[in-house]
Amino acid sequence: MVIILFGPPGAGKGTQAHLLAQRLGLPRIVTGDLFREAITRGDALGAQVKPYLERGELVPDDLTIALVVARLQRADCVAGVVLDGFPRTVAQAQWFDHELKKHRRAVDCVVNLVVGDDEVFHRLAGRMICSACQRTYHVTAMRPEKIGVCDQCGGKLIQRADDSSAAIPVRLRAYREQTEPVLTYYRGKQCVVNVDGEASPEVVQQRILDSLPFALMAASSS
Ligand code: AP5
Repeated sequence: MVIILFGPPGAGKGTQAHLLAQRLGLPRIVTGDLFREAITRGDALGAQVKPYLERGELVPDDLTIALVVARLQRADCVAGVVLDGFPRTVAQAQWFDHELKKHRRAVDCVVNLVVGDDEVFHRLAGRMICSACQRTYHVTAMRPEKIGVCDQCGGKLIQRADDSSAAIPVRLRAYREQTEPVLTYYRGKQCVVNVDGEASPEVVQQRILDSLPFALMAASSS
């Protein structure tokens, strides 16, 4: 089962991918987290991608695809994956389809989270993430039990470098110009479902579950 969480920055892809992967017992592949982990490790990949993330621009396709190739080869991906943040260009989507086809598979569903720009700004400006496990919080909508401390691992909560007032408009522009065409690509394959993302995380999750094709839900509960 291959499910893609799609939507603009701050739409709630990470929040919903976490809940959905737990529910379906599938691993999540989060390209943004993989890049941020490389930056934290300080390795060669981290040094290459850091300037792109800080400016809010997309990382070049070759680096992104190489990272996803390595992650998909791990044994936990055999039954399927929930993807968050990938594919983000038509070239990435075409490459991904080609890879899946080699294994007689295809993207089962693209969940497009629909959220307006004002809500996006509000969510990104108030987001905090755990510096250790990357779990996401929001200063008003999803507060941790103890201010500044991750409920899950006790790590320190920080603001992401690209949640700055300079980077957010760049990220939104990259989304409109480079990522939205991916939706048109998948609409051509008739696997896109639109989900209204402006409600509590629990309500949005239920909307996603209700909108997944029946065959997927049957497979996940068997
Ligand atoms: P990435 O980490 O993927 O960032 P993004 O797409 O901009 O998405 P976000 O993580 O900002 O938002 P989200 O939709 O996951 O929302 P979240 O659940 O956190 O990518 C970062 C960078 O990496 C890119 O800019 C690029 O440079 C690079 N990159 C990554 N993938 C790439 C690729 N494939 N190709 C090239 N470059 C790539 O929620 C946001 C906030 O809202 C949180 O605070 C949350 O608590 C809150 N919230 C969530 N849901 C709700 C709700 N229902 N109600 C109220 N608040 C909510």
